[in-house]
Amino acid sequence: MTSPLFRTKKVEQSIRDTEEPEHALKKSLSALDLTVFGVGVIIGTGIFVLTGTVAKDNAGPATALAFVVAGVVCALAALCYAEFASTVPVAGSAYTFSYASLGELPAWIIGWDLVLEFALGTAVVAVGWSGYIQSLMENAGWEMPAALGSREGSDVFGFDILAAVLVLVLTGILVLGMKLSARVTSVVVAIKVTVVLVVIIAGAFFITADNYDPFIPDAQPVPAGESLDSPLIQLMFGWAPANFGVMGIFTAASVVFFAFIGFDIVATAAEETRNPQRDMPRGILGSLFICTLLYVLVSIVVTGMQNYRDLSVDAPLADAFKATGHPWFAGFISFGAAVGLTTVCMILLLGQTRVFFAMSRDGLLPRFFSRVHPRFKTPHRPTILLGVLIAVLAGFTPLNELAALVNIGTLFAFVIVAISVIILRRTRPDLHRAFRTPWVPVLPIVSVGASLWLMLNLPAETWVRFGVWMAIGVVVYFLYSRSHSRLARGEGTESPAPPKP
Ligand code: ALA
Repeated sequence: MTSPLFRTKKVEQSIRDTEEPEHALKKSLSALDLTVFGVGVIIGTGIFVLTGTVAKDNAGPATALAFVVAGVVCALAALCYAEFASTVPVAGSAYTFSYASLGELPAWIIGWDLVLEFALGTAVVAVGWSGYIQSLMENAGWEMPAALGSREGSDVFGFDILAAVLVLVLTGILVLGMKLSARVTSVVVAIKVTVVLVVIIAGAFFITADNYDPFIPDAQPVPAGESLDSPLIQLMFGWAPANFGVMGIFTAASVVFFAFIGFDIVATAAEETRNPQRDMPRGILGSLFICTLLYVLVSIVVTGMQNYRDLSVDAPLADAFKATGHPWFAGFISFGAAVGLTTVCMILLLGQTRVFFAMSRDGLLPRFFSRVHPRFKTPHRPTILLGVLIAVLAGFTPLNELAALVNIGTLFAFVIVAISVIILRRTRPDLHRAFRTPWVPVLPIVSVGASLWLMLNLPAETWVRFGVWMAIGVVVYFLYSRSHSRLARGEGTESPAPPKP
């Protein structure tokens, strides 16, 4: 493979790049900061908002099982992420990993794909946040005008002003510097976890056993004309498209998968962990396990409090308490959720600007974007550009469609990362790996299969949108990035070494 499309960037070069003073990010985060960042981003809109939607549309009380399925898929991917993060510990996540292993075009594709994960993810969380703020305002007897509130189910032209304002404020905070963000995050994470525990413990007293009957609702045919909304797998195999039933659990899993996005940020702490080989899997799998447990308990409690058909789609946790006649709890939950979602939104926005920054530092996007601010040492240019674009997007687009796109993009990144682990082991066996994925290549192959399975359970129309987005990315690569790449100019080019026999 000597084609320029597959030229790889040396891992050593990636690490050296972070040391060029003009293009270097301030190394201000400790391992604890990163771990708190991870927890801060994992619990968010997925549990606070999507639980209601999937219980109502896809799985009923069996939503709890959907969280287990999604958690297992993430655990497999996490073990692959941890190896890469400990081998190539520089900004850019899966993008950087694939540049070092698969080559430039695949890396570009993954970077472009990560825009779906982080930028659209920021928008999803901002919209979820807005739902809880509006629920809080309703508690105080104040309703947002429909045109400035949520767009779900409304006929009027709407712009979610609260979601857009949140993104702009967070953009400002990120431009000023990460340290401030990290400090704020730890307080907010504590509030968020408290709220989740309150939902579980207080909600358990308001459960009605009848609501669990049936636990897995019978499969229902999807109305004719809506088949593009159906999971691709059902269309591929010519099954009659259906919601609920056992397949509904997988459909739900492919949606609530969103609730786990962000754990990869924990993996980036590998280099700073005292005994990574032992502590990384414990840390990552431990945090995934705790989140899965909390998610399962929350969904069991909420679907027990209210019949799944009646759950709210904007603020289901708070509204379940309102429905059982406990508006005080609802107010507290809305407040905590709103506070908690701000950090999730901020960390996703941060992730996006870092990927953009890394791509720009490599010349695949204009180098203009990779100059850090002289005083704040933050990549202010991509932060501001993306912040404004995401604010507009969050204002106009429905949450569910965005979430499905985020999920397909992230699952695709998981597939590439798992494949890259196998490739990099063969092409660069010499590299120092602070953490090694167990059972290579079996575990990465199982991870690829599991991620693909969830992708196939996403709606066919999500695949179409994903395809269009990726096609645009390939065009941009051939028109701009291929010729502007720093590797194209001979700065650090390396042809992949032939695999060892
Ligand atoms: N996992 C994050 C959430 O659920 C992205 O909001």
